[in-house]
Formats: sequence, structure tokens, C-alpha cells
Amino acid sequence: MNLELSALCPFGVEKLVKDELKGLGYHVVSSSPGRVDFQGPWEAIYRVNLGSRTAERLLIRLVKAQAQDFDQLFEATRSAAWEDWLTPAVTIHIEKVRLYQSQLTSVPAVQSMVQKAVFETLCRRFRLTRLPQNGPVVALRVTLAKDQLEVFLDTTGAALHNRGYRQDTGEAPLKENLAAALVLFSGWRRKYPLVDPFCGSGTILTEALLYAYDLPPGLKRSFAFEHLRPFSAPDWDHLRDDARQKTDLSHRVRIFGSDKDPVVLRAARKNIQALGLEDHLRLEVKAMEGVSARFWGIEEPGFVVTNPPYGERLETVAAARDLSRAMASWERDFPDWSIGVLTPLESLSQDMGRDPFVVRELSNGPLRVKFFQFAKK
Ligand SMILES: C[S@@+](CC[C@H](N)C(=O)[O-])C[C@H]1O[C@@H](n2cnc3c(N)ncnc32)[C@H](O)[C@@H]1O
Repeated sequence: MNLELSALCPFGVEKLVKDELKGLGYHVVSSSPGRVDFQGPWEAIYRVNLGSRTAERLLIRLVKAQAQDFDQLFEATRSAAWEDWLTPAVTIHIEKVRLYQSQLTSVPAVQSMVQKAVFETLCRRFRLTRLPQNGPVVALRVTLAKDQLEVFLDTTGAALHNRGYRQDTGEAPLKENLAAALVLFSGWRRKYPLVDPFCGSGTILTEALLYAYDLPPGLKRSFAFEHLRPFSAPDWDHLRDDARQKTDLSHRVRIFGSDKDPVVLRAARKNIQALGLEDHLRLEVKAMEGVSARFWGIEEPGFVVTNPPYGERLETVAAARDLSRAMASWERDFPDWSIGVLTPLESLSQDMGRDPFVVRELSNGPLRVKFFQFAKK
């Protein structure tokens, strides 16, 4: 049976999520900013949570109905087959309620009505008078947009950017799925060199390594779906064992990272060690002004993918613009390379004195940022 599924993601990354879903063989139905709707079997829950590099969360939509008043909201929610998904052992948490241009406008009231409807169904089906609510948490999300109700069951738990390898961070680490998106947008493949001259705690480098070796990002963590009724531990173990067996660390990969700050570079080393991949890249404490293809001993063109300091959280805008001007030297220092830079600074291409071939608008948490891509000359 195909389920109605929604993959949430950072704004601007929807295309990559769609590509991943189609690559897994699932039918993409539609997409809107930060969300891709698709259909797939129960196994898709395992595969997408385990393997998606760019999604943030995977939800199953269990209710879709008109709800202009509380009676309609209650009836629509109550009639879903909650007993197929939830056992009386879990704690049900209504995690998010989003109301938009609807008759019902009170978040707490919608929240408690949805909870009441779900509880009523479960108590009736399991012949209980109350639910103990002291087991592992399973979260629901509710959207009411123009009176169209959707109730989702979260299969992910901690958002997917929590890969489980990060031991330590710098001051402004990128979310892992956004870092993976930059690598994918850049068009980098493992046969090319990749350099990050502002590598911080190494998120871009780490995601490039996982991608290069086909390592599923979710191998080292647990998921909310492990508490849902259809979960089968043997099937899940089998899928993960299969992924581990397919991992081939013998590919030659050339990934290089530097940062002027020795403390964040130690964090990068720790993170990469946690994955056991420390022998598969090179890291150096070095200010970007001294970094070039020649510095790393690279003779053929490759890819720079990076996230310089912004001027918001790190240093001042003036200092960030000075660095953008310093990046003008990359035309000489990385001759014929593809360059991808993530920044909120509108002035980047002007400061670098170069025209990008594409500028992608993305979200980095609450911050709107742009990924400027400069082609090989
Ligand atoms: C936005 S952070 C990069 C975060 C990184 N992507 C991560 O996920 O951890 C920018 C980094 O640039 C470094 N930095 C600032 N000025 C630099 C310079 N002149 N040369 C090299 N690194 C510099 C900072 O130490 C900081 O780690």
C-alpha cells in the first residue's frame, strides 16, 4: 500500500529532495517551499530517513479534510486509523500546529481537539479507558491552511541534519543537510578534488566524504519510526547491514579543508574521526589568503565549496566584505575551478569581481542566504 508522505527540507533545496526521492523510485506528487509530497510504501520510511542527504524530516499524512469548525476537525481526526500506527505504549505529542487563513484561529484549542480525537480512537480500538502516556514520544503535526486540515505523523524524531557524528562545532556550523545540498548543487563528483578554505568544524567536508563513499547519513542514529506499530527490527537491521556492506572506502578521494582557527579545526578532526574517515582527507590550520590549489599540491581543476564568515554571527559585515574581496584571487589561485560560496552578502559577486552563472536562494535556519556558483573559466 502506498502512503501519502511529505519530506520537509530547507527552502531552496526541494529540487534535490525530489531527485533523491525519484532516485529511490518514489512518485513525487507535488512540492512547495520547504516541502515535497510523494507516495511510497512503508519501506520508504526506512529508506528516506536512512539515506536522504538533504531532507530535514519525513512525515506520514494520516488526515486530509475540510475543517471549518471544531466538529469537522474532531470527526476528521477521529476517523483516521491511528491504531494502525500507534500503540498505547507511546506518548503522543502534538508538536506543531500551523494555522493559516482559516476559520479556526486558536493554536491551543486545535492542539487539544486533535489530541482528544486521537486519544478517543486509540482508547476505543484498544479497549482502554485511558492512555498511560509514559512511553517514548511520537509527534504529530497539524496544518490548517484555508480550512484544509492535514494531520501528520512524524517518522524522524530529531531532525535529519542530526546525523549522529557531530561531536563538536565551531561558532556558526552549517546544518549538515544544507552542507550536503551545497555539495550536490556544486556538481562535485568524487573523481575531482574538493577544497573548503573556511572549513570551520568541517561540515561540508564531512558531507562530501559521506557522499563520496555512498555512506547513508542516518546509519549512526535512531528514529521515531522505531516506535511505530509497523516497525520491523529485522527489516531495518537488514537494510542497514546491506548499506554497510555496500560501502567501499577504497575509492581515491581528494578532499581538503583549512581554517585560520585551530580550535574549530580540532572540532573538524573530532567529527571526522567519529566517522572513522580521518585518513580520507587533509586538514590544515591556515588563513585563506595562503590557500590555493598549489598549496594543496593539486594540479587539475576541482571544486571549491565553502561558507565564509557572514558578518552577522561572525565578525563584522565590513570584515566579511574584505574577505569577499580577498576571494577575487581565487581566479588565479584556483585556475579553471568551479567555485560555490554560501553567504547572505548580496555584494559577493561585485566584491569578487566575477559573475556567477547561478545564484540559489536558500535558508540556513532562520537566515536567508545565497549560494553563488562561479563556473570554470
Ligand atoms: C561560517 S564559518 C564556517 C562554518 C563551517 N561551514 C562549519 O560548518 O563549521 C566561517 C569560518 O571561517 C573562518 N575564517 C574567518 N576568517 C578566515 C580567514 N581569513 N581565513 C580562513 N578562515 C577564516 C572562521 O574561523 C570560521 O570557522
